[in-house]
Amino acid sequence: MKIAVLPGDGIGPEVTKAAVSVLTEVADMFGIAVETAEYDIGGSAIGNFGSPFPEETANACLESDSVILGAVGDPAFDHLKPNERPEMGLLSLRKTLGGFANLRPAKAYRALIDSSPLRKEIFDGTDLLIVRELLGGLYFGEPRGSSGNEAYNTMRYTTAEVERVARVAFEAAVVRRGKVTSVDKANVLETSQLWRSTVDDIAKDYPEIKLEHLFVDACAMRLVTDPKSFDVVLTENMFGDILSDEAAVLTGSLGMLASATIGGKIDLFEPVHGSAPDIAGRNIANPLGAIASVAMLFRHSAKNDSAAKAIEDAIDSALDAGFRTVDIASKGSQTVSTDEMTDIIRRYAVENAGTSRAYHAV
Ligand code: IPM
Ligand code: MN
Repeated sequence: MKIAVLPGDGIGPEVTKAAVSVLTEVADMFGIAVETAEYDIGGSAIGNFGSPFPEETANACLESDSVILGAVGDPAFDHLKPNERPEMGLLSLRKTLGGFANLRPAKAYRALIDSSPLRKEIFDGTDLLIVRELLGGLYFGEPRGSSGNEAYNTMRYTTAEVERVARVAFEAAVVRRGKVTSVDKANVLETSQLWRSTVDDIAKDYPEIKLEHLFVDACAMRLVTDPKSFDVVLTENMFGDILSDEAAVLTGSLGMLASATIGGKIDLFEPVHGSAPDIAGRNIANPLGAIASVAMLFRHSAKNDSAAKAIEDAIDSALDAGFRTVDIASKGSQTVSTDEMTDIIRRYAVENAGTSRAYHAV
């Protein structure tokens, strides 16, 4: 597999280094040949190429089997208009690759239950998947712009755009717990009314799946009062952006969450967290979101479930053994750096896969 790696800004380079080292180790264990190469994106690309998404990066990604992204965003560019900022690099990347379904799983890690901001009895057992539409809505709708004291964005969806992402959500529910919660604001927005009726139509093809509709404000509330009640959450681009941060932090840290973007020409894998400029370059960032994204790469792009499981089990083992980066540290745990956590995951992955290589306690 040819994999384009886009480290980006802030902690992006640190967590992608971690991800690539686990990718290489696990690919090797399972006899999957991988070739990785790095390309520029975001603020660092503005510095080097004058554009947050240089042509060289676009072409390299399109010639790859999948893409791993770290993070984009740098306060040095805060004065720029949205379409000149590092974030535009990520939006252009998503559009170029064409993946419209962004899968963001959030589940309770048993070892991190006490790090959740929610009481244990409310959060324990939570296991949900947000399916976020990624190429439509306010992020891409035209017209957009500003003049003088006025600024505007357009929320726009077509039936076809809703149908294709809804199918991904229903298919996911088939192999999960059989429930889809479609989230919208159909009491106010035309786009949401279209969303709702289109989802109802798709649901007819999945009579075994339980479908419920929920307004986005009520969903935000139920995520903290009854997160266990969700299985698959299907929603549009910006609602999904907001709800996925909320769901992520319930697990104890935004740094834990992975994502896969599928359905387009090339699949994209990126942690849900941002570039965290305040902790960049200090070897303290949590690499588990990026590493768990590599597990998703093995599952969705390499179609190798065992390799994905080896990584996911290694994350469980490392947490069970008490290893924590500083964001998830708790009483009695052992605080480790980004690099140390990465080594620990690699060793557990090797050990869990039952190879004969020796495990050295850290
Ligand atoms: C995310 C991020 C991005 C988004 C930003 C960086 C453009 O917040 O992946 O959730 O809003 O999609
Ligand atoms: Mn976000």
